[in-house]
Amino acid sequence: MSDTTLFTPVRLGALDLPNRLVMAPLTRSRAVAGNVPNPLAVTYYRQRATAGLIIAEATQVTPEGQGYPDTPGLHTDAQVAGWRAVTDAVHEAGGRIVVQLWHVGRVSHQSYQPGGALPVAPSAISPGIKLYTHQGLVEAPTPRALEIEEIPGIVGKFAAAAARAREAGFDGVEIHAANGYLIDQFLRSGSNARTDAYGGSVENRARLLLEVTAAVTDVLGGDRVGVRLSPTNAVNGMSDADPAATFGHAAAALNRFGLAYLHVIEPLRDDHPMSPKGTARVSRQLRQAFTGPYIVNGGYDKATATRALADGQADAVAFGVPFIANPDLVERYRLDAPLNAADPATFYGGGEKGYTDYPFLSELQPV
Ligand SMILES: Cc1cc2nc3c(=O)[nH]c(=O)nc-3n(C[C@H](O)[C@H](O)[C@H](O)COP(=O)(O)O)c2cc1C
Repeated sequence: MSDTTLFTPVRLGALDLPNRLVMAPLTRSRAVAGNVPNPLAVTYYRQRATAGLIIAEATQVTPEGQGYPDTPGLHTDAQVAGWRAVTDAVHEAGGRIVVQLWHVGRVSHQSYQPGGALPVAPSAISPGIKLYTHQGLVEAPTPRALEIEEIPGIVGKFAAAAARAREAGFDGVEIHAANGYLIDQFLRSGSNARTDAYGGSVENRARLLLEVTAAVTDVLGGDRVGVRLSPTNAVNGMSDADPAATFGHAAAALNRFGLAYLHVIEPLRDDHPMSPKGTARVSRQLRQAFTGPYIVNGGYDKATATRALADGQADAVAFGVPFIANPDLVERYRLDAPLNAADPATFYGGGEKGYTDYPFLSELQPV
């Protein structure tokens, strides 16, 4: 047990956090024409600048990497300009912000793809889910397996987006290797049936993750790059024959990059939608395997987060839904004040309602 609390400062690589509450990446599907961040995102992120670190929502590195309506990108000049307004506002308010770099792989539909092409993936295996499109809910198609010659091009898109992230004023990036998107599809055995250098053994399945991490850290330096993993959840039709072996290897192999942090989603409670299904939890093992700063996420509250820090299970804790509904989550936890309830109906799409209009404590109580 240590005396570390959520309010003890911490250094994650090049990032100095005044507290250990991290805002988890949260897709809000409010981008405007050209998948440029909504001007309201300036207010939304500025309102949350007291977080130790903001991880901005998943942001596609290329048009092929999109799989949901109105998600922002980081591959055009207009998108960079839109993000610049966000990072300037967060910095002016005294905060720190990185952006999550995203390629959805098979979690997409022809309606998102340039030329109406099939989405790409390690293998032609459907996720077996329904997807939100501008035409409503549709069955996810069976994707096209990437040719091995195409993989350097994908790695290059992540590197180019990392350069644009710096241009946009971000303090760093988080590589999205979680939740059943492209990099996770390569990592886990249920979605990767390749027989080349990117499939089969855990070393081969981790190859894309390590190549992307090498390319992105070449651009930004390891100390401005984090990686997010979800070793045991079944989100987006995912499964792995041996999460401890797959992710134990990945976590250890990431040590060589001197990363700012490793960020692992694995809720402690079984009733959370992202909890392990039919497999043992592995976060404690990954904490041991990875030598750098470690962030946990999934259903944490003040009490469970404080315990995870005191027990040495994490250096910081990310909160998702609590930060949607509580721009001043840090202050509320500091004061043990009640939290606003989140409204799931306004999570995705729309305008200010459920986005920038959740009240601060100071608006509720006369001061
Ligand atoms: C509305 C919504 C959007 C999300 N978008 C993302 C995302 O863009 N990238 C990501 O890695 N996880 C995303 N997640 C998962 C959250 O980052 C987080 O892992 C999850 O909410 C569990 O943490 P919590 O229990 O503290 O909310 C999203 C979750 C929600 C509810």
